[in-house]
Amino acid sequence: MKGVILAGGSGTRLHPLTRITNKHLLPIYDRPMVTYSIECLVRAGITELMVVTGGTHAGEFLRLLGNGHEYGIERLSYAYQERAGGIADALGLAERFAAGERVCVMLADNVVERSVRSSVENFERQERGARILLAREEDPEHLRHLGVPELDGDGRVLRIVEKPETPPSPFAVTGIYFYDADVFEIIPGLVPSGRGELEITDVNNHYVEQGTMEYDVLEGFWGDAGESIDAYYAVNDFVRANGANTE
Ligand code: DAU
Repeated sequence: MKGVILAGGSGTRLHPLTRITNKHLLPIYDRPMVTYSIECLVRAGITELMVVTGGTHAGEFLRLLGNGHEYGIERLSYAYQERAGGIADALGLAERFAAGERVCVMLADNVVERSVRSSVENFERQERGARILLAREEDPEHLRHLGVPELDGDGRVLRIVEKPETPPSPFAVTGIYFYDADVFEIIPGLVPSGRGELEITDVNNHYVEQGTMEYDVLEGFWGDAGESIDAYYAVNDFVRANGANTE
């Protein structure tokens, strides 16, 4: 399985910080944000990675990561997203890199406390389709800024709602996704959302409709450091006190 780290987008929710750098290069405790998602995938055994970035500071990723060996990456590729066309648009740039293999996709503003290795293994055992990682989140105000699954009585995903007014469950869809090679056939058929982006939630709902979407619920802390300046500091505080990507 190959890994795709998505570090494009415009980062407007962290303005003015993101006027002078890419959001994923801002510090989380003692190192740049993007290194946490890289560490997460490498520690889960995924060592062939592509970093997709964009905007005016893309060169800094090369300066930070180089060939990736220092981070345990065996082969590191880069792609450049010319405009912030959405998460699914950014993922589409990894099609040739994936070359028919399955991918684990991680948003570079997501930070997790615990290893995701068991989910990687679960997806390796999964015959086909997609797998998402959910995080329990009781605060509806927080859920209104995220993707939220609606679950049936047996716990199957009925649909995922992006930024719902009324969250249909107490779970957030985190920015860690697993896809089979079909994902690159789904993306070209997507229609831009109200915010003008190709939405990863539309990709996920495609798999839900096919009946091939599975999920795991993350243990431990999960944070989206790009959600707001308060979320950014909450993630910083957590990592400073407890670390990240631990077994
Ligand atoms: O963090 C989890 C949430 O991430 C999910 O719950 C939502 O379902 C999902 O849509 C996403 O929501 P956000 O509103 O937080 O996405 P955002 O626009 O902040 O983009 C998240 C990351 O994706 C960003 O840090 C880098 C990457 N990205 C985003 C866009 C729009 C790109 O690489 N290119 C892009 O064009």
